Amino acid sequence: MTTLWSGRFDAAPDQAAFEWGSSFSFDRRLFEDDVTGSLAWARALEKAGVLSRQEAAAIDAALRVILEHGRSDPAFVSGPDEDVHSFVERLLVERLGDAGKRLHTGRSRNEQVSVDLRLYLRRRIPLVQRAMADVVGALVSQARAAGEALMPAYTHFRPAQPVLVAHFLLAHVAPLRRDYDRFARAREEANALPLGSGAIAGTSYPIDVRQLAADLGFDRIVANSIDASSDRDFAATFLYASALTMVHLSRLAEDLIILCGDEHRFFEFSDALSTGSSMMPQKKNPDPLELVRGKTGRSIADLLALLTTMKGIPSGYNKDLQEDKHAVFDAEDTLAGCLTVVKSVVAGLTLNRERAARAASGQLLATDVADYLVGKGLPFRRAHEVVGALVRKLVAEGREFGSLDASEWRSASELFDPDVLKRVTPEASVRAKQTPQSTAPAAVSAALTDVERWLEMALLPLENQLC
Ligand code: ARG
Repeated sequence: MTTLWSGRFDAAPDQAAFEWGSSFSFDRRLFEDDVTGSLAWARALEKAGVLSRQEAAAIDAALRVILEHGRSDPAFVSGPDEDVHSFVERLLVERLGDAGKRLHTGRSRNEQVSVDLRLYLRRRIPLVQRAMADVVGALVSQARAAGEALMPAYTHFRPAQPVLVAHFLLAHVAPLRRDYDRFARAREEANALPLGSGAIAGTSYPIDVRQLAADLGFDRIVANSIDASSDRDFAATFLYASALTMVHLSRLAEDLIILCGDEHRFFEFSDALSTGSSMMPQKKNPDPLELVRGKTGRSIADLLALLTTMKGIPSGYNKDLQEDKHAVFDAEDTLAGCLTVVKSVVAGLTLNRERAARAASGQLLATDVADYLVGKGLPFRRAHEVVGALVRKLVAEGREFGSLDASEWRSASELFDPDVLKRVTPEASVRAKQTPQSTAPAAVSAALTDVERWLEMALLPLENQLC
């Protein structure tokens, strides 16, 4: 195997070490982006007077054939090459001879791998965002279908207050929308042209980098060639967005695992997305969501791996950076798989209205009982004490508010009138909420409409969104 740098050495590389250090087995994923970058570089070299018209045209035509070949037959993108850049250049030289050998003029693989990864993320991030919007879509459909169904919300995993089921579902939409925006910012960060940086100091040919950036759709040029050769911040930002999205999917998974469990059964998983036990015939296990929760560790590790790789390297390109692709591709694959399965699980949920509503009543109306007293003029801290004492009595006697008679209410406080039980219900509790982010049915309905409007934009064909 000849490498792009064999001229410097007397002996052939150690075969095992060469294979171990080569990246083609995984950076072949950048094939399309590598050719895209080279097509634009050839045009820039022609404009700079480095390539003749004929040479540039021949390179252009040959690269397009190579691209088509690779697109229609993925197995074509393979060989003994050190990396995808060497592969493309080898094929070009095999076809064109010396003209192919001119393409790398003024360019380094250091900037080439950066431009490839930036182009890759720029085209792949919208696909991740689309899959996120699909999960949001499934949550929103469930929220619509739930109407004004009630369930308890928890703090410290103890029943806290009644909420609408739709409010709970939208609580998982909100972080995903932030994640969606985070990915948009990661894409923006990647959208800078590193070409023109050379190996470290810039290029000695009169490349019109502004034109080259426009040609490749980059909205700016990197600020500094030394920085550019080892800048992977954009990849780290992508990994952070991926890891945090996984954290959010993991929490959704955990909620659903609990709420579909036998102790709660507010929702039921579809059979198609459940698994059985080899021994215990009664089991209906939520393996898909457990895997989502489990894979979150990987995704966080991908972020940590790149940050750790980056932290020790001196200025300029160092081979350590080759590890970036393992992290980026693994995080992308992990997230993509999880988004697909979470969407299916959410779409397949059945709400058990009665059970969820029943759990939203009882002691968790205590705050509303206190608010009732506040309405009668009692300072809140006093009301809290009165209701606290009442709850203590109820708990000791194994009873609930509904079983108190008028005299018992009165002995707790003179301010309780016989209407208290009618005024203190889960329905009244949610209706009493006043703020736009609350579980008040009108607020939830407005929030749902807002998300549905956002979804229309997020689900537009990608071409329409990106221009
Ligand atoms: N495979 C390398 C990487 O992924 C490409 C850049 C190689 N540059 C170099 N000077 N060896 O980082």
